[in-house]
Amino acid sequence: MANVVRDPRTHPDAIIPDLSKSDPLVTFTLSDIALVYGTKWKQRYFTKKGDDYYPLPAQWDVRNAVWRAYHVAPGSDWWTAFYPTDNMDRPTGPLCDGCHSVNYNIQTKTVTEWNVGCEKCHGPGAAHARRPSRENIINPARLDFVQANDVCIQCHSQGQPLRNPIEGKYYDWPVGFVVGKHLYDFWKLENHKIGEQSFTHFADGTAHKNRMQGNDFVNSQMYTHGVTCFSCHDVHGTENGADVIKPANVLCLECHGPKSPLGPHAPTIEAHTHHVSGSAGNECIACHMPVIEQTIANVNVRAHTFRFVPPATTDALKVPNACTECHKDKTTKWANDALRAWANVSPWRVANE
Ligand code: HEC
Ligand code: HEC
Ligand code: HEC
Ligand code: HEC
Ligand code: HEC
Ligand code: HEC
Ligand code: HEC
Repeated sequence: MANVVRDPRTHPDAIIPDLSKSDPLVTFTLSDIALVYGTKWKQRYFTKKGDDYYPLPAQWDVRNAVWRAYHVAPGSDWWTAFYPTDNMDRPTGPLCDGCHSVNYNIQTKTVTEWNVGCEKCHGPGAAHARRPSRENIINPARLDFVQANDVCIQCHSQGQPLRNPIEGKYYDWPVGFVVGKHLYDFWKLENHKIGEQSFTHFADGTAHKNRMQGNDFVNSQMYTHGVTCFSCHDVHGTENGADVIKPANVLCLECHGPKSPLGPHAPTIEAHTHHVSGSAGNECIACHMPVIEQTIANVNVRAHTFRFVPPATTDALKVPNACTECHKDKTTKWANDALRAWANVSPWRVANE
């Protein structure tokens, strides 16, 4: 998270695509780009007009290595109702920058630091830097489970400020929140009506798009039992994908396992998963974190509800399920029939006819 936003003048290598190759979507040149956003899934480019930044109309899809139009369509994100339809008239200050910087000041439009810096998660650090002590810095690990998770949810969620507009502008990030305060005094998670598919949610309430790990995770039993985002992730960096503390299967088995009171309740792992050891279908995250939340085009990220989505829910509510997402050549009926034959799970919950 330390290299989200970069200035191409000081980091010419920050721009992933080759701008010298012409593309009909790319109507701008290197000299228009003031800031570059993102490296992993998608890269977006901002130009400066006056003292505000504005998104340029093409974005780079990193996985597929292609240009795609960048335009948030009217009627999708809640804030499109309050902004002109042209991206070039939608400033990044109210719509983006609070989550990609430290201390974005809405009056002066300045930041202490672009990127997700230490103070965003640890609070003000000047006194601590002068005289390091436990008393003058926030350690998220010592906060209660709500506030601890809110350190991450302040950015990893879809929501709206409680008070909007703020000084005449509609913001898409929790203006005024700093760690140690209560996020719920500043921010509400995006509403969802069960049964309806929306821009943000599948009909069963699972997130439909990226950057919603917080919306998902607050629905998990793990959240209510004191597990936090950083029980699984070390944001200071690890050698594993998505900065998980241990490779995913090892990670889950730190707390779970056939002998653990936390489940899964089966004599062996294979008896729970019904897939052989070493199979992709034997990995905890294969079924409990399906890759169904869209970030760009066909590139998705993992769900964080940890709930198993039954194949029948795909038929009823169009929520993709892990079984037929992986067994692409099979039908939901095939998966439902297979589940009905599995011991250790309730057919009423996962394979009702
Ligand atoms: C995205 C949020 C985030 C950012 C950014 C971040 N930290 Fe942390 N930090 C945490 C969390 C959460 C913990 C507690 C859990 C853990 O140790 O992983 C922590 C723990 C620590 C600890 C251990 C404290 C102790 O007493 O055990 C140190 C030291 C630390 N961070 C230093 C830094 C420094 C220095 C930076 C900037 C270079 C930084 N952190 C950036 C979230 C963050
Ligand atoms: C200031 C907003 C902000 C905060 C606070 C924040 N994140 Fe992030 N996080 C981001 C952004 C932006 C990215 C995309 C990073 C990139 O493009 O390099 C990201 C990326 C990530 C990734 C993916 C990293 C990868 O390489 O795949 C993980 C995992 C993550 N964050 C976990 C956390 C956790 C856990 C916390 C709380 C301790 C947290 N984040 C707090 C903004 C934030
Ligand atoms: C509420 C906080 C928040 C807001 C507002 C926000 N982002 Fe992000 N952004 C994140 C987080 C967290 C991630 C990483 C996690 C993810 O995408 O699931 C991210 C990821 C990204 C990425 C992909 C990074 C990569 O490495 O692939 C880009 C590009 C990006 N944001 C651009 C924008 C733009 C442009 C806006 C404004 C129109 C915006 N963001 C608004 C929090 C936010
Ligand atoms: C029980 C463990 C666990 C918890 C709790 C957890 N995550 Fe994750 N997270 C994972 C695993 C496992 C992955 C996928 C790693 C991989 O693909 O190798 C992941 C992936 C991610 C990614 C990368 C996007 C993707 O799906 O590839 C982000 C961002 C992220 N988590 C943020 C968060 C945030 C924010 C929270 C808290 C609201 C959180 N996670 C809670 C285990 C967890
Ligand atoms: C730090 C310990 C810890 C880790 C690591 C952990 N879990 Fe959990 N998990 C729990 C606790 C505690 C519960 C709640 C158990 C209960 O309700 O009795 C739980 C519950 C669950 C449940 C029940 C459904 C629900 O709503 O949460 C599932 C499924 C689950 N975990 C999957 C996973 C997966 C998959 C991983 C690895 C990515 C993982 N867990 C990692 C502690 C952990
Ligand atoms: C092939 C799919 C699949 C895999 C892989 C899988 N699970 Fe499950 N898991 C399920 C199903 C189905 C349920 C039942 C869901 C329900 O009743 O809502 C379940 C339920 C659970 C539960 C709650 C019920 C209980 O027995 O306590 C936990 C905890 C759990 N799994 C943990 C894990 C862990 C840890 C792993 C990795 C070792 C894992 N699962 C791998 C399909 C899977
Ligand atoms: C991440 C991929 C993945 C997921 C998710 C997954 N499987 Fe599998 N499955 C496999 C692989 C690989 C095999 C072959 C090796 C084996 O038996 O483990 C397999 C084998 C099977 C088989 C036996 C072989 C056959 O084709 O008849 C059945 C039945 C099955 N899976 C059902 C399911 C059901 C039901 C679910 C959802 C609960 C599921 N799988 C989830 C990857 C997956």
